[in-house]
Amino acid sequence: MADNFTSLSHENRIFKPHKDFSARAHIKSFAQYKKLYNESIKSPEKFWAREAKNELAWFKPWKKVLDWKVPSAKWFVGGQLNVSHNCLDKWLGTPTANKAALIWEGEPAAPGKPGEERTLTYKQLHHEVCLFANVLKKNGIKKGDRILIYLPMVPEAAIAMLACTRIGAVHSVVFGGFSAQSVADRVFDSQAKMIITADGGFRRGAVVPLKKNVDDAFPLNDAHGNCLTKTIEKVIVLKRAGNEVAFTPGRDVWWHEEVATVDANCPAEKMDSEAPLFILYTSGSTGKPKGILHTTAGYLLGAKMTSKYVFDLRDEDVYWCTADVGWVTGHSYVVYGPLANGATSLMYEGAPNFPEPDRFWRIVAKYGVTILYTAPTAIRAFMKWGDEWPKKHDLSSLRLLGTVGEPINPEAWMWYHTVIGRKRCPIVDTWWQTETGGIMITPLPGATPTKPGTATLPFFGILPEVVDDQGNAVPHNSGGKLVVRKPWPSMLRGLWGDPKRYKEVYWSEVPGSYFTGDGCRQDKDGYFWIVGRIDDVLNVAGHRIGTAEVESALVSNSKVAEAAVVGRPDALKGQALVAFVTLKTGVTATPALRDELRNHVGKEIGPVAKPDDIRFAEALPKTRSGKIMRRLLKQVASGAEIKGDTTTLEDLTVLTKLGSAED
Ligand code: WTA
Repeated sequence: MADNFTSLSHENRIFKPHKDFSARAHIKSFAQYKKLYNESIKSPEKFWAREAKNELAWFKPWKKVLDWKVPSAKWFVGGQLNVSHNCLDKWLGTPTANKAALIWEGEPAAPGKPGEERTLTYKQLHHEVCLFANVLKKNGIKKGDRILIYLPMVPEAAIAMLACTRIGAVHSVVFGGFSAQSVADRVFDSQAKMIITADGGFRRGAVVPLKKNVDDAFPLNDAHGNCLTKTIEKVIVLKRAGNEVAFTPGRDVWWHEEVATVDANCPAEKMDSEAPLFILYTSGSTGKPKGILHTTAGYLLGAKMTSKYVFDLRDEDVYWCTADVGWVTGHSYVVYGPLANGATSLMYEGAPNFPEPDRFWRIVAKYGVTILYTAPTAIRAFMKWGDEWPKKHDLSSLRLLGTVGEPINPEAWMWYHTVIGRKRCPIVDTWWQTETGGIMITPLPGATPTKPGTATLPFFGILPEVVDDQGNAVPHNSGGKLVVRKPWPSMLRGLWGDPKRYKEVYWSEVPGSYFTGDGCRQDKDGYFWIVGRIDDVLNVAGHRIGTAEVESALVSNSKVAEAAVVGRPDALKGQALVAFVTLKTGVTATPALRDELRNHVGKEIGPVAKPDDIRFAEALPKTRSGKIMRRLLKQVASGAEIKGDTTTLEDLTVLTKLGSAED
């Protein structure tokens, strides 16, 4: 790691933190970062114990900082605390109590019109959370029960999450863009007792029929004959869109009616440090999505510390993370991280370009947003829509910009820096995963010199390394697999109900180390350049999609014989999904069938997983042992051969002889 950044070669553009920013930042210099980082690696238990004591409010102190036996980590063993207490009660009786905790902006009805707006102070949010926690109890929820949350981006999503944590129920938030089948799959796996949903949510002027999707999930069965009626006892429905919904008496209840029947006195449960906090399903390289399990103390400490240091949160900030709460970014950086810091977190319901492409900039100007955290795919879309949209608005309140979800190409970084940041704002490119709970590799804005396209250096306590197939560290500037050598507090504790798969997926590739699934290279300064997934997971517009999941959705259609899904580079989304499909005998490839199959995937998984391109083939290229030659298909998918919308069957078997038998 070079200390003197002026000595770096010219091929790298270096952006040093501005001295005025550094002067006021939590971490003020690179030397200070390094000193703390070195301490966190040399004496992790001492470091984390100090941070946990300073940052979190405990009901009972822990006895042991870390109990680590690969691959099982227990942090702050014997301690007790509560997440909602740390996010809410902690601020009561302080000046923060009357500060905005959540500012919410709904989707506007027409161009130029403001969206609906609502602000909840910490005191008000506490009140709402206590009420709803009592509603959960009244409806039979006990400590440890699982609850599915399937809501639009409205304050009630955060209220429901915090209410679960208040009474020790384990939430599993399902993104509103997932289908009835995905809701059902998550209930089967988590054995949830309750679903919290809404009549509908707004998206680009249309209503997303969330309650109807839940109703459609009830008749579905899994391979073991499970169905929702076996575990789901109650469905709580929020009135949001005002659309008509069916109601099953005894099972379905209205949120507003239930809240009117309870009082607001609900003490926070004392939860063990390692009590399950939430399960979040994410795509892996095989089978159905995996239930990533996070627990109480370690997760909260990670979310809180990274929010504080990476976003350099200050009391007066208006902080906006544009992620949906259905993804981990929404968990850690819309809800838990900012609230645990007493910050003001902005939530927006709609799309970035509805009703017009200046939606984000209008919101930044309206609320005086100071910190903006979004995805490279959104930035690339803004670039395409043109500079005139951000230029129409006063963005001078912004002081810090962040990105997450996929590698950011240097052009997009420079555009973000110049057009949005007006060359004043540092950019934090943050690398992390659903599994890691919080940010892992990132610049600290007052300390770390940045270069467009790299997430730079590890956060405190994180020891990433780039290794070869044998698990040995590779020299700088050679590519390899990204692993993490040491446990960290906010790491996943397992896959819900599947300890074997947990060990296989994350801890067997490089025994003893956490395998991220990402490829990476460190440059001569030790900066980490993430290349992207090296497993069969694609990153489409910042969303993780498993190719195996889309393939099984396709073959579940009776017209499809075989399917192989690969990624191809896409200027806007990073990667696009290309499906190669062979049809059953007698079925003809037509443009209508292509649409039918795309919609079928939408129904099986959700609109986010619809292939961008479906290419019909006579047969798929296979190795002698019968494995589909994906590498070859990737080349075909991204090559010059693309036939666009033609529906003729391609003969890909001719390619087989070109490919390696190893594919
Ligand atoms: C990718 C999202 C490059 C990576 C928080 C990772 C990134 C996957 C970055 C996790 C970044 C995330 N630069 N790639 N700054 N951030 N990724 O679980 O491939 O939805 O493994 O978590 O996104 O996606 P997930």
